[in-house]
Amino acid sequence: MKLKGQHLLSVKDISLELIEELFNVAETMRPYAERQKVTRVLEGAVLGNMFFEPSTRTRVSFGCAFNLLGGEVRETTGLSNSALAKGESLYDTAQVLSGYSDIIAMRHPQAGSVAEFATGSRIPVINGGDGPNEHPTQALLDLFTIHQELAHKGKKIEDLSLTLLGDLKHGRTVHSLCQLLSLYSGLKIQLISPEALAMPTKYIDMLSNAGHQVKVGSQLEEGLPQANVIYQTRIQEERFASQKEANRYRGYFRLNKRIYSEHCQPGAVIMHPLPRDSRNDANELDNDLNQEPGLAIFRQTDNGVLVRMALFACILGVEDQLYQYERNVNWHVGLNQ
Ligand code: NCD
Repeated sequence: MKLKGQHLLSVKDISLELIEELFNVAETMRPYAERQKVTRVLEGAVLGNMFFEPSTRTRVSFGCAFNLLGGEVRETTGLSNSALAKGESLYDTAQVLSGYSDIIAMRHPQAGSVAEFATGSRIPVINGGDGPNEHPTQALLDLFTIHQELAHKGKKIEDLSLTLLGDLKHGRTVHSLCQLLSLYSGLKIQLISPEALAMPTKYIDMLSNAGHQVKVGSQLEEGLPQANVIYQTRIQEERFASQKEANRYRGYFRLNKRIYSEHCQPGAVIMHPLPRDSRNDANELDNDLNQEPGLAIFRQTDNGVLVRMALFACILGVEDQLYQYERNVNWHVGLNQ
């Protein structure tokens, strides 16, 4: 597979062929992720999980994916806890850390930082989010989720009518997802945000040039009726010049049970990269939707483990060896009801 021994820094590195291969491998990860089987295929391998910006699910799911393949995880969190705070360059840090592990997953607040880090790395580097720029593994797990959710309804990606909502200016997940969707054509894509938080023109052009039907708007309701998948986002307050400016958009678009039943197609899929901001003044995705079958946010996070396992297996070249190192789970799985 093309990914073997390669960095994954941008969705630009990804082709349709590679997506298909990767999603097939992700499916083979299900018995391990669902704790029916254990595989030790990466026994002895070490992941350097370097997170220089806040993260819960991306960091933990990278670590968990590596553990589920039998590997060990070494972790750094926060810029202030690392030598970068003493003025060390990303290049030097990469030279050092790449001597300690077999693969690195990294998140950093500056756009382009992970690519810069990779120039000093002797081992593959996966971008776990570089500032407002990109989040390629999230885009892959989002696409995998869209693919699965539509498949359950007998539909294909080609049938997608997707509405992206919220802070489309700063959201790296939607930037990467739009780039990935530009590999397809003929989709319906609605980009709905406050005017000041509109999707950057380069991504709108990318989608239009790919032959998608793109609609841009600033009212929540105008993006909902035509969508079979709705992707809500959090206002990325850490990327605004001031908290005061971010506060202007808090709670601007709220998706709740009333809006969903009045304006959305029955059973429309709801996604969100998470975390959702559940504070009262924000609440962009209300808890009153928690029992809606269309709410896919936790299927999406579960899919993150499958996709990240697939990436590790393919980059380290073991995707065909999983079964050789497998056994049954010997503990009790889950919660007794
Ligand atoms: C997103 C991110 O960090 O860009 N979270 C994630 O990785 N799942 C979205 C966000 O923080 O709003």
